[in-house]
This record gives sequence, structure tokens and C-alpha cells, in this order.
Amino acid sequence: MRDLVKKLARRSKSAIIAYKLFDNRRLRKRIESGNIETIHGSTHLNRSVADSLAYIQRQFSVYIKYGDLSYDSLKGKRILELGPGDNLGVALKFLAAGAASVVCLDRFYSKRNSDHERAIYKAMRESLSAEEQSRFDQAVTLTEDDVRFNEEKLRSVYGVGLEGFADKLGNEKFDLILSCAVLEEIYDPDPVFAAMHRLLAPGGSLVHIIDLGDYGMFREQGMHPLTFLTISESIYKRMASDSGLPNRKRLGYYIEKMKELGYQSKFFVTSLLPNGRLEPAAEYAPGRFKQDSNLVANIRSKLASDFKNLDEEQLLIDGVLLVARKPL
Ligand SMILES: C[S@@+](CC[C@H](N)C(=O)[O-])C[C@H]1O[C@@H](n2cnc3c(N)ncnc32)[C@H](O)[C@@H]1O
Repeated sequence: MRDLVKKLARRSKSAIIAYKLFDNRRLRKRIESGNIETIHGSTHLNRSVADSLAYIQRQFSVYIKYGDLSYDSLKGKRILELGPGDNLGVALKFLAAGAASVVCLDRFYSKRNSDHERAIYKAMRESLSAEEQSRFDQAVTLTEDDVRFNEEKLRSVYGVGLEGFADKLGNEKFDLILSCAVLEEIYDPDPVFAAMHRLLAPGGSLVHIIDLGDYGMFREQGMHPLTFLTISESIYKRMASDSGLPNRKRLGYYIEKMKELGYQSKFFVTSLLPNGRLEPAAEYAPGRFKQDSNLVANIRSKLASDFKNLDEEQLLIDGVLLVARKPL
């Protein structure tokens, strides 16, 4: 039945909206019943071990490069990774590089295949230098049929939001808070930023990889890539509040948030419409990504009120990396 509804939903914008309204309600009820298992974040479920390793390595390298982190600067650092999904490989890479500890916090529990997860960790261990292997071994023990994490080094927390976690922690602080493809899934990120601010040590850093696109909702059906911005806020909220669909915050929201917190921040554009991914990512400066394209002109009159008057650039920037530092 769900598959039939999904198939029909592919036909038109209103059918997609109807399906997403139904799906959001279904997911909210599931969460309310205490079931936190999800396939959001099951990034590695259908990948080969080699592809998973490459994905983890790429994400780790992006954090290092754009976060301006060196291996030396990681020594002794306490890290919090938000929304790791079905694999703790990125956390293990940081520990192998010399970080003191990592807490991985996920509001949900991404479905995973434990044999595949163990195979990824084993292959990762083999790819490390002897010094990194010895740090890796302090964080995790791999046996023929089990993976045991040393909680002093790598702790995973599921089923709570960052706000609830910050309330419980007392005075524990982090030097680095990271995430990839998580902030856009949080319908109202304000309280999460407030929690990050409480949890970050003075001088600590944030590095967040944020997707500003529509997660393929309309564009993968051949519709205009900004179709999701034409839906009124009152309806969109009922599609996205609990389903992990993007919250539609644009780059300007994150810029303002960093100003409000008094953080020094830089943004790198990782994806720009109409062409997509920018490799390497380019640092944002107002006006730098202006272009001659009819893409926005073709849809502007249909945009919902929050987006109608935004600069073309704000509408075309489709992915960013936020790098910020809390003042000392
Ligand atoms: C698109 S997945 C990304 C997973 C992983 N970071 C990656 O790059 O493969 C989004 C992840 O964020 C988690 N998530 C969603 N809302 C969250 C929240 N409020 N707090 C923490 N994690 C959240 C989801 O459960 C999921 O694991």
C-alpha cells in the first residue's frame, strides 16, 4: 500500500506533497510510540566496504581541510559528532589521529548491518599506520563476531536531542562539534545551536556540512530544483517536522546565527545551482556566486513568502560548510 502511494506520488507536485504529509504524520506517530529506528542515516547499508571506507575518508578529509585542523591540533581534543548515522568510522578516524575522545549523538537509531559495520572497521584498521592502529585499538575491540567500543574514548548516545543531552551533561565541554547532512534535517535548529553553544568550550570550533537542496523530493522527478520553496510554511511544516526532510533554512540563516552567537565564522559553498557540486568548495563572500541564469526568474513569482524576496544567490546556493569558532 505504501509503495503504491509512493508510486502515485511521483506524478505531480500535489501528489508528492500529499505523500509527504502522510509520511510525516506516520513518522511522528512512530517516534511518539518510542520507535527511533530509521533508515535516514543508513548511509552504509547498501555500500561495499571499499565505498564505505572512501565515504568516511572523504568526510574526515573535508573536516580536516575546511575546519583548518591539523593532526597536531587534534591531540587531546574532545569531539562531539552530531548525527553519525549507521557508522562510527568518522569518529574512529579522529581518535586514530589523536583526539582524546568522541561522543556520537543521534536523535534516532539508523538501521545497520552489524557484519558490514564490523567489516568496515576491520578494513579501516588495516588502512592505518602503526601509531594510528594503536590509538584505534584503545577505542575499539574487534573480534570475529563483535565490536566493543571503549566508552572512555568513543561513546554513542541514541534517542535524545542535543538539548536534552546538554541538560544532562553538567559541565562537560567539547573542543569540536561536527556534523554532516544533519542540521538541515532539524526542523527548528535554534535550540540545537543554543545547546552547541553551551557544550562548546571557549575557543572551540564548529564544522558542519549542510545540504540546502530538496533531498531530491521534486528535482529527482524532473521538476524545478526550487519547487520545495514554493510550498507555504504552514503546509511544509506538516511535511517536514518529523520526517527528516530539509528545513529549507538558507545560508543567510546560518550567517545570522553565527553573528548572534558572536562566533567568528566562514562559509564554503559546496554546491551551487544549476550545476551542482563545487570541487573544491569555494569560500562565500556576498555577490561572489551571482550568475546569469533564468533559473530563479522562472520560479520567483511562485516562491513562498519567506523566499520570494531573497537574493538570487541565496536561492542558488545549494550546499554549504559552516566553520566557526567560539570566542575565548
Ligand atoms: C542524512 S543522515 C547523515 C548521516 C551521516 N552523518 C552521514 O554523513 O552519512 C542524518 C542523520 O542525522 C540524524 N539526526 C536527525 N535529526 C537529528 C537531531 N535532532 N539530533 C541528532 N541527530 C539527528 C539522523 O538520525 C541521521 O543519522
